[in-house]
Amino acid sequence: MKFLQWSVLPLLSILASFLVLYMKTSSKPSNSDCSLLPHDHYWIYSKLIVTPEGIINGAVEVKGGSIVSVVKQEYQLGKVKEGHVLDYGEAVLMPGLIDVHSHLDEPGRAEWEGFFSGTKAAAAGGLTTLIDMPLNSAPSTVSEETLKLKVDAAQEKLYVDVGFWGGLVPDNAFNKSSLEGLLRAGVLGLKSFMCPSGINDFPMTNSSHIKEALHILAKYKRPILIHAEIELDSVSPVEPNDGIDDVRSYSTYLKTRPPSMEEAAIRELVNLVQDTTVGGSAEGAHLHIVHLSDARASLDLIKGARTSGASITVETCPHYLAFSSEQIPDGDTRFKCAPPIRDAENKQILWEALMEGHIDMLSSDHSPSVPELKLLDKGDFLKAWGGISSLQFVLPVTWSYGRQYGVTLNQLSSWWSERPAKLAGQGLKGAIVSGNHADLVVWEPETEFELDENHSIYHKHPNITAYMGTKLSGKVLATFVRGNLVYSKGKHAPAACGVPILAK
Ligand SMILES: *[C@@H]1O[C@H](CO)[C@@H](O)[C@H](O)[C@H]1NC(C)=O
Ligand SMILES: *[C@@H]1O[C@H](CO)[C@@H](O)[C@H](O)[C@H]1NC(C)=O
Ligand SMILES: *[C@@H]1O[C@H](CO)[C@@H](O)[C@H](O)[C@H]1NC(C)=O
Ligand SMILES: *[C@@H]1O[C@H](CO)[C@@H](O)[C@H](O)[C@H]1NC(C)=O
Ligand SMILES: [Zn+2]
Repeated sequence: MKFLQWSVLPLLSILASFLVLYMKTSSKPSNSDCSLLPHDHYWIYSKLIVTPEGIINGAVEVKGGSIVSVVKQEYQLGKVKEGHVLDYGEAVLMPGLIDVHSHLDEPGRAEWEGFFSGTKAAAAGGLTTLIDMPLNSAPSTVSEETLKLKVDAAQEKLYVDVGFWGGLVPDNAFNKSSLEGLLRAGVLGLKSFMCPSGINDFPMTNSSHIKEALHILAKYKRPILIHAEIELDSVSPVEPNDGIDDVRSYSTYLKTRPPSMEEAAIRELVNLVQDTTVGGSAEGAHLHIVHLSDARASLDLIKGARTSGASITVETCPHYLAFSSEQIPDGDTRFKCAPPIRDAENKQILWEALMEGHIDMLSSDHSPSVPELKLLDKGDFLKAWGGISSLQFVLPVTWSYGRQYGVTLNQLSSWWSERPAKLAGQGLKGAIVSGNHADLVVWEPETEFELDENHSIYHKHPNITAYMGTKLSGKVLATFVRGNLVYSKGKHAPAACGVPILAK
């Protein structure tokens, strides 16, 4: 009897641990792993809740992943006090940020970023939805099949919700069934380049390709997004070591991508959407210009077209609003991106255009690579990979650099949530109103921090960011995705329960 007990017990415990292991690997995360909160019906209190009607002092009631009521303190607080309450006091409660321009690079280049690290960084930064770009993964998202590879690769790796843009390339542009297949499979719109993209399986498109896509997109009521730069004959490429220009000097790079490249591309696009004989706005198509850098002639063209009724929106990125070309140190290729960061006066005009509503929204254009491709040791601006890592910091960066221009919380929310939601066709996201997804961020605008190597950064390559060493204001305390508390005070939920967003 005794003998039996001694020999059976270890056996049982081994069996039990196999069972636990089996359950861990074979079962989907349980609801409690998705959230740092134990319940799914609760109230979030804040004295500064950013709603479309303005800032209120009150509570947001969350149930089953949605916002079920938004109440002002004066007349309702007594009633809500009984349930589960998270009281954030003076911290701001805003809609979660929606980034319409992230490169998550998976499948195929997960060593550059990946769904897991990218969305983990997003959650820590108060972003609740990302729209992934069709290039820098391998293969690019240019067909129904390649979209499926994306969605499969994203399974159980998403801390926030992720939608996908499809790629418009010469290969699918004239093939209606291919483009429609991609749209029916769920991409939220199409993206193309008017200059080489730097990725071999993502060649550039010309105006004929874009025209074809506009016709089809109008039918699906989804936008086309364009990287608007055209290579001009008048701009002679600078060859490295040609004895005249120093490849380590930022001004050398700047000369290779002048504002006239953006202007030429935008002129072509504006003509395209205004030509009523070829579709475009007249048919209900919408054009979105990504990462505008040139605040002068290019922006004037966009303003003009909008005045005459063209359906065009435009985004710019925090790095064009935070940095200027004059400040970029020699050889510091962390600042390389395309179009390039321009002079201080250009930055000032971009801010003014944003404040006046001529620029609609912001996006990160988070576009990392493996550190080796940034060529930090050589500092060669012409050969280094172009792309700035920033996903986790876009909220404090926009806020910190915008304060001198008088940026308000409602503007932040419009640029980062409301308008991006509209562009991506996400009617249940982007605003704190009853019925919407409970996608929320709580943050402290006044808390300052210096971004150094001791700060928890969740991007795959944390120290390759142009923001390292900057002093920022605005600390994210908590992030909710469809009611799940996915990030709180430096901790992430045990499981990644964001979902892929596919258009229907
Ligand atoms: C169009 O794309 C489909 C795949 O969606 C492919 O089967 C077909 O061969 C393509 N047609 C042409 C003319 O390239
Ligand atoms: C665009 O490229 C296609 C080839 O893919 C060509 O047939 C077409 O003429 C070009 N359009 C323009 C405006 O250059
Ligand atoms: C990071 O933390 C370490 C250990 O606390 C400290 O020695 C170092 O100075 C910190 N680095 C910065 C940039 O503050
Ligand atoms: C990034 O961090 C790693 C590990 O701490 C370090 O070895 C590397 O030199 C850093 N790179 C840069 C560009 O700071
Ligand atoms: Zn990009």
